[in-house]
Amino acid sequence: MTQSCDILILGGGPAGYAAALEAASLNKSVVLVEKDFLGGTCLNRGCIPTKLFLGASQAIAEIQAQSRLRLGQGGFSLDMRALQKRKALLLSGSRQAMAKALEAAGVRVVQGQGELLGPNQVLVRPAGETTREDKEVRIPFDRLILALGSRPAWPKGLEPDGEHVLLSDHILDLQEAPASLVVIGAGAIGIELAQFFLRMGSQVSLLEAAPQIAPTEDAEISAQLAAILKRQGLDLQAGVAVRGLERKHNRGGVAVILDADQRLDADKVLVAVGRKPNTDVFGLDQAGVVRSERGAVSVDAHLRAAAHIYAVGDCNGRMLLAHAAEHQGRFAARHAAGAITGPYRSGAIPFCIYGDPEAIRVGPTAQEAAALGLECTVSRAVFAANPVAQAFGAPHGLVKATWNAGKIIGVSAVGHGALHFVSAAVIMVDQGWTRDQVEEMIFAHPTLDETLRQALLAPQEPL
Ligand code: NAI
Repeated sequence: MTQSCDILILGGGPAGYAAALEAASLNKSVVLVEKDFLGGTCLNRGCIPTKLFLGASQAIAEIQAQSRLRLGQGGFSLDMRALQKRKALLLSGSRQAMAKALEAAGVRVVQGQGELLGPNQVLVRPAGETTREDKEVRIPFDRLILALGSRPAWPKGLEPDGEHVLLSDHILDLQEAPASLVVIGAGAIGIELAQFFLRMGSQVSLLEAAPQIAPTEDAEISAQLAAILKRQGLDLQAGVAVRGLERKHNRGGVAVILDADQRLDADKVLVAVGRKPNTDVFGLDQAGVVRSERGAVSVDAHLRAAAHIYAVGDCNGRMLLAHAAEHQGRFAARHAAGAITGPYRSGAIPFCIYGDPEAIRVGPTAQEAAALGLECTVSRAVFAANPVAQAFGAPHGLVKATWNAGKIIGVSAVGHGALHFVSAAVIMVDQGWTRDQVEEMIFAHPTLDETLRQALLAPQEPL
């Protein structure tokens, strides 16, 4: 048995890390338990390595765009092995920085796998081992914050093998780009990684079961995104469900079996069809924690799974986004510390798909607003005449705004550098700006943001 703590946090990803620092800043004694690396999916297997890959290969996309304009020729050949070394260096540096920040804040980090021994006690075992009792630690706590994260999921028939059939975790460790790649699932992960390997010279097919890629995005935005990606050379098919996979034992590679007995051969397959919460922690049920059919921890308006247990980030299934997880983590820490009492309010949340083009969304899409029965109008503008988009040889895409009762309730965009104005869009949607407020604001010239302005000031049409 070790010293008890006020707040114990299970999981050291963005949600758990933010919660730990926040709770420590409120003078609580805090223990953070992590079985793997600090930083969780975001730092080690998700957002950060993917953005490193896209950033390192961005020059390829930009050279190609200028070459299409016949302004010159040339290329940049990215060394995947060098990139992997750089990734390892950057990630370990970030993990060390996190460990130092936790130490400086007085948070005790315990390495191992946690399980609940009772309503107020956690047992931490060395990860991967179950028999070494001498290495076990029991930590009594007052409040518990579950920040357990999520992991890739797959349906029957699409089981990964880590060699030819890969998950996002595996593909981010490849030492060389495959000659051909089939990406199954065109959500954020599928779209971002398909773009990276296309830049690396792989022949890439992106398959999506829903009628449009990025199914949660506005239909018009998704259609533009698809058109731009196709122009770049991506083989993109929506409305095709993958039935199964066949390993080709003699020649290596995989055959992807599509509807109507169509097959696609590839060296590697990436399965990016969604994620599931990591909530298989022993003892949760006995502590009164309820899980949905998909395994997500059910939480109340205060992100509480039980009177003294909170669940934040991916494991509550609300929003699988690092920035949302961090925000929830800070809230839970403040609530658990008694510093606030009101319910959780997230404000407007940005959704972003990286690459070139980028896609953003804040608030509901026009289709979602209509489904909610809201009386809406939409206004839009295209990037075609934007001088910055033209300079980058990427004058494609559009910005679309959704309005209700004279206020902006949603902004979606797709185009080169659309992420530049995502935080402006968050503020406008969160505060429900009117057209007059937009009119009063001065937008820098020339910027991509001017297309946002143009879209907001454009005539509004019924949905
Ligand atoms: P997702 O749920 O966003 O997309 C998976 C896609 O696979 C869906 O479009 C679905 O219709 C499709 N699909 C399912 N079964 C299929 C089949 N048999 N054949 C073809 N298509 C099929 O999941 P994803 O992309 O794995 O991302 C997981 C989570 O991580 C998401 O919630 C996402 O928001 C988050 N994330 C966010 C990023 C960002 O903000 N830039 C980047 C990466 C992930």
